[in-house]
Amino acid sequence: MRIVLLGAPGAGKGTVAKMLTDFDGSVQISTGDILRNAVKAKTKLGLEAQGYMERGELVPDKLIMDIMEARLQEPDCAKGFILDGFPRTIPQAEDLKVLLAKIGIKLDAVINLDVPKDVILDRLTTRRTCSNPDCQEIYNIKSKPPSPEGKCLKCGSPAVQRADETVEAITQRLETYNEKTAPLAAFYEKEGLLKTIASLSSEEIVAQVKASITK
Ligand code: AP5
Repeated sequence: MRIVLLGAPGAGKGTVAKMLTDFDGSVQISTGDILRNAVKAKTKLGLEAQGYMERGELVPDKLIMDIMEARLQEPDCAKGFILDGFPRTIPQAEDLKVLLAKIGIKLDAVINLDVPKDVILDRLTTRRTCSNPDCQEIYNIKSKPPSPEGKCLKCGSPAVQRADETVEAITQRLETYNEKTAPLAAFYEKEGLLKTIASLSSEEIVAQVKASITK
């Protein structure tokens, strides 16, 4: 499958993307994970991105497009990809359209996860993420807890809160989403690709995505 997952911070994009990779070998490409790994490794990209991320602002479009132009042409994308957290602005969506046309690929669908704001706030403050860059399993102390010692159940690394999980950064990320990313729903509606799913169950979302792809 070749899909984009849209949705507010905490809507469950990463959780659903990880579940969908088991379906047909499509790879999850999370720009958030790529950037967090770069910050951890203190690369040039990481040093540039860190301040924006910790404030809950978007990283400049140019940096993201440079990453994605290269990433989408790597061999593991041949089986398909699930874009998690990209595109996030109208200029990124327009650039993605040009890039995909250039490499001869069409998107199957753009899935918009529609989750109420109170649920999102609760999920973001209770999330824990595996600190191992090669794992990054997503947990939630209410719905999917790590081990009682706070360790990842897959690799045993500590499951921690992210640097952008302060109240200030969460508030800013939600404002940024409403201003810059929410307009992408209308963009993809016009392209005839949008499918909005208003469910609180990741299993139900996965089933609906699979049904819409295999139709
Ligand atoms: P990014 O990592 O993409 O963060 P985000 O969009 O804010 O999304 P999140 O990862 O917070 O949430 P999610 O929707 O994946 O939810 P999750 O599955 O974890 O981006 C971080 C930063 O990087 C940005 O702020 C920006 O600075 C920068 N950036 C990234 N991409 C960029 C781009 N393209 N352009 C510019 N800047 C960019 O779920 C949340 C919680 O809920 C978890 O605890 C989970 O266990 C729980 N949960 C999920 N589903 C369910 C369910 N069905 N029931 C109960 N609990 C659930």
